[in-house]
Amino acid sequence: MTKIIIAIDGYSSTGKSTIAKQLAKALSYVYVDTGAMYRAVTLFALRKHLVSDSHLDQEILIDLLDEIELRFKYNPELELSEMFLNGENVEKEIRQMQVSQYVSPVAEIKEVRAKLVAMQQKMGKEKGLVMDGRDIGTVVFPDAALKIFMTASPEKRATRRYKELLDKGEEVVFEAVLENVQKRDYIDSTREFSPLKQAEDAIVFDNSDMGLEEQFERLLNFANRIIEKNPKDGYML
Ligand code: DC
Repeated sequence: MTKIIIAIDGYSSTGKSTIAKQLAKALSYVYVDTGAMYRAVTLFALRKHLVSDSHLDQEILIDLLDEIELRFKYNPELELSEMFLNGENVEKEIRQMQVSQYVSPVAEIKEVRAKLVAMQQKMGKEKGLVMDGRDIGTVVFPDAALKIFMTASPEKRATRRYKELLDKGEEVVFEAVLENVQKRDYIDSTREFSPLKQAEDAIVFDNSDMGLEEQFERLLNFANRIIEKNPKDGYML
């Protein structure tokens, strides 16, 4: 059976990772959450005091990039991969609001992107892969067989994110979450290098009013149609 690369891009909190994980499981593919990689670099920068509301020490962060070792390790109990930063499991910490606040400016840095994109392209060699992020269909795998661009209204996305954070026990105010979503949208889509934008050949998927099950079935259908059209064993982008 042919293995393909499925690139899922889109705005933050559109549920990309939930659907990407489900798809990867159904197809027995590897799932890669590239946002986790940008988040881990941001956590590194926070711990080194290189980023705050008023400053970002780009030069020092760029100099220290070689000291950052990122790895995904599969956790069989949770049935998902967790992000390790220099050998430490940082999966929980990278999802906290503080990291979300500073991740967009860190992800704007050209050298950070170059390092992470190279790692992502390596992960895609000869594998069935579902990768989600902002530039997967445009920069990382511009020839991916299936490209999805996920979108939903900022209010719907902030509501989802707000509930997630409350469930995790974080004390948050809805307005702050909405503001963070809107600010990240703005920075992510207007930055100079690899801005978030829809690839010309991507399928736009607005899930403002669509349940998870329907999204999953539709996307699995798209993938299966491509796979069935290319029944030979092997690997295609
Ligand atoms: O998917 P996420 O919200 O966890 O991503 C966190 C941030 O990382 C997001 O605000 C933009 C950045 N990002 C990026 O610039 N490129 C990617 N491929 C993935 C994420």
